[in-house]
Amino acid sequence: MVPILEVQDLHVSYRSSGEASYAALAGVNFHLMPNEILGVLGESGSGKSTLATSLLKLLPSNGNISRGSILFEGKDLLCAPAGELEQIRGKRISLVYQEPSVALHPALRASEQVFQVLAAHESAGKSALRQKTRQVLASLFPKEADRISNSYPHQLSGGQRQRVLIAQAIACGPSLLIADEPTASLDSTTQKEILGVMRTLRDELGLAMIFITHNPALLAGFADRVLVLYGGRVAELGLARTVLSSPKHPYTRALFQSMPQILENTRDTRKTKLPVIAGDSSAAQLPLEGCVFEPRCPDRMEDCREREPAVVNLGESHTVSCFKYGG
Ligand SMILES: Nc1ncnc2c1ncn2[C@@H]1O[C@H](COP(=O)(O)OP(=O)(O)OP(=O)(O)O)[C@@H](O)[C@H]1O
Ligand SMILES: [Mg+2]
Repeated sequence: MVPILEVQDLHVSYRSSGEASYAALAGVNFHLMPNEILGVLGESGSGKSTLATSLLKLLPSNGNISRGSILFEGKDLLCAPAGELEQIRGKRISLVYQEPSVALHPALRASEQVFQVLAAHESAGKSALRQKTRQVLASLFPKEADRISNSYPHQLSGGQRQRVLIAQAIACGPSLLIADEPTASLDSTTQKEILGVMRTLRDELGLAMIFITHNPALLAGFADRVLVLYGGRVAELGLARTVLSSPKHPYTRALFQSMPQILENTRDTRKTKLPVIAGDSSAAQLPLEGCVFEPRCPDRMEDCREREPAVVNLGESHTVSCFKYGG
């Protein structure tokens, strides 16, 4: 099988006035197979949203992709003309954001919100688009499609709004869905419900997904593989069951050790605070040379300060960037 997405050596930086540009992503490599769910895990500032917006070339004006390639369905998005990108966004690749109350138009009924997405990308007549709108909403709200369709966002619960956003995202039949912390504002029962909806969509529509979160507990039983980002670098990448049960990178280990409930799916994950790992990962604190995790690493060695570790293959597509394992 051929990957649907291949990201190679991706470097993204931000310019701020009067300051040197900041490398938010450096040398990011990964691929995604059709029908696969990749969980992207990392604490605040690790580059998760930068990755999502880079994949759609929707970076803010001070952001710049300085190196690398993003092959989507065999085409390099970084070289694609603007018109082609417009067609790919929303139609072949769609994005679900964190905050449903901001992402939805407050003055439009749910059906209108989905209809407008379809109308922007498809040339069919109005009545065909209305019918498709009904079908998509019925797939997300099998029991109450009519009521939801006629509701305004403020008449819906957080979970229902999130489902409307998902309806918009799948309306045009994309092959890749990127979800950036889509459940962060929901309670744990609704979070699980939304994860269930996303998995069903993956199974029924054959979608591939990139699911971004700072919460490892959400990935157990949901993601197929997990990519751990730290300071804009891929610290570890592997099958979810391997990474979650037997993490190798000192950062992943520290993250999980301070969260013993990761593999128990029973707690209120919304209230799970980021684990406390001694030290600071804010941009200003990252070292300019060596391994970015070195200042906080319990296992640091001499080499770690001097150069960046290479990617070490541990087998079964499990890779880690750490001198402990070679590198
Ligand atoms: N528009 C911008 N201008 C300058 N720096 C930015 C900009 N957007 C993000 N950054 C910086 O890039 C780094 C990565 O940010 P990003 O938003 O991708 O992180 P994140 O992992 O999504 O964090 P969070 O979990 O808080 O959403 C951070 O250090 C952030 O301060
Ligand atoms: Mg983010």
